[in-house]
Amino acid sequence: MPAASFYVTTPIYYVNDFPHIGHSYTTIAADVLARYHRLRGADVHFLTGTDEHGVKIYRAAQASGETPIQLADRVVERSKLLWQRLEITNDDFIRTTQQRHQRVVQLVFQKLHAAGALWLGDYSGWYCASCEKFLAENDLTEGCCPDCGTKAEMAAEKTYFFKMSAYRERLLKFLDENPGFVRPQARFNEVYSRVKDGLNDLSATRTSLEWAVPLPFDPAHRAYVWIDALTNYISALGYPDGELYRKYWPADVQLIGKDILWFHAVIWPCLLMALDLPLPRTLFAHGWWTNRGEKMSKSKANFVDPVAVTEKYGVDAYRYFLLREMPFGQDGDFSETALVRRVNNDLANDLGNLLHRTLTMIEKYSGGAVPAPAEADASAQALRALAAETVAEVDSQIADVQFSRALEAVWHLVGVANRYVETSKPWVLASAETRRAELDTVLYSLTEVLRIVSLLLYPFMPTKAAAMRSQLSLGPPEPPLDERAQWGRFKPGTSIAKGKPLFPKIEE
Ligand code: MSP
Repeated sequence: MPAASFYVTTPIYYVNDFPHIGHSYTTIAADVLARYHRLRGADVHFLTGTDEHGVKIYRAAQASGETPIQLADRVVERSKLLWQRLEITNDDFIRTTQQRHQRVVQLVFQKLHAAGALWLGDYSGWYCASCEKFLAENDLTEGCCPDCGTKAEMAAEKTYFFKMSAYRERLLKFLDENPGFVRPQARFNEVYSRVKDGLNDLSATRTSLEWAVPLPFDPAHRAYVWIDALTNYISALGYPDGELYRKYWPADVQLIGKDILWFHAVIWPCLLMALDLPLPRTLFAHGWWTNRGEKMSKSKANFVDPVAVTEKYGVDAYRYFLLREMPFGQDGDFSETALVRRVNNDLANDLGNLLHRTLTMIEKYSGGAVPAPAEADASAQALRALAAETVAEVDSQIADVQFSRALEAVWHLVGVANRYVETSKPWVLASAETRRAELDTVLYSLTEVLRIVSLLLYPFMPTKAAAMRSQLSLGPPEPPLDERAQWGRFKPGTSIAKGKPLFPKIEE
């Protein structure tokens, strides 16, 4: 049987500035999904990239005295370095200025035109160049965009409207039939009620803009940047007839931030329906990181820089913190104090301690080799059962895109294993020759917990998980997870390779 396919995407990021914590959040989350599904044995395709056209980029380039493509090249180079640094395993990186993408944008417009889904008219109304979106008069707050606070501009030009209103009924029906399409639930409800209130046609082209893809049938018009951008999810697969397209579309999970929900949950499905293409299976809209309670913004210069944080605390601690600290879907505050607390409590105390004391006891009581277990008593059996439950729980939480809950389940197991050390008292068992069998069972059980934990944590903390495994003399994790995570696969007699503590405490 061929492996199940799994296609996961991030939004493509604007190149007006270097990526910050918010971009790294979505990208790390997507990476965890990609790694987890690969470990399960799925055939994964993980896409990220950059959104390079539009007014915003054009003006940012002007402001820095570059051409738009010079700016884009510079930001792309640095973005790629950041993704490498953060151990992101994307399979492709799409740039909207690439030929392979622009061709598909033109094809999409051609098809919309041929399907009668466009009509030529006049647009007159407000526009936010920062969000690249059209705003109604009553959306404005004191003349500014309600989302980002940028001063709205008047736009009056000829445009091809996309007949989005024509898809309202179909979209509502689709939402009724697919209540898991937009997650979390609150976002689904938000989309549903807005669509219920009505859908307007969308201005899909602009004549006042040079830095955009020209329409094939009317070169005075250029593609509205959001339609250009959304198309990346299929252009990167070689739509319409590419092999990747046939294999991976529709996407399994499209991760986005809650600010771009409307584009993905309404405009994107309507476009796909107009093209007669299947809709993605799940759109997950996550929340926002704030800095001391404040929204991060360029004007406040309060963006958390992933490079600076990872230089100080390490990549794995950062990845762990982002996904553990705030439930996916909610908002939360980023603070170094909270990060240090997580590192010290969860990584150094709980996990680090379990690993270090287990390895130390194997050295001390078993000559550095993991003993074969004897018959399991009730507590060893309970630990074994909990390990199996944890594997299943992580699987179901990841299927639900609930990273913090998956990690909570792993830490529950770690906590129970630490208590098992205290209640089984290996140091007492070691002092009585008659209790050797009990001691062997304890040491073997702890090793198994650590091995299984290293598998489950690998998608979140690839480097630390691999280091944990190498201290247990195990190679990098390999699929299929459900087999590898079964209890009892550790080979007794294996010598461990205890090294330095993996999770040192940080001075607060
Ligand atoms: N280019 C569009 C997306 C097009 S996708 C077809 C865009 N780019 S962006 O660079 O502005 O933002 C991309 C993502 O970063 C969004 O999902 C947004 O939610 C996320 N974040 C930006 N700031 C954020 C935080 N402070 N916290 C969490 N994520 C945030 O929008």
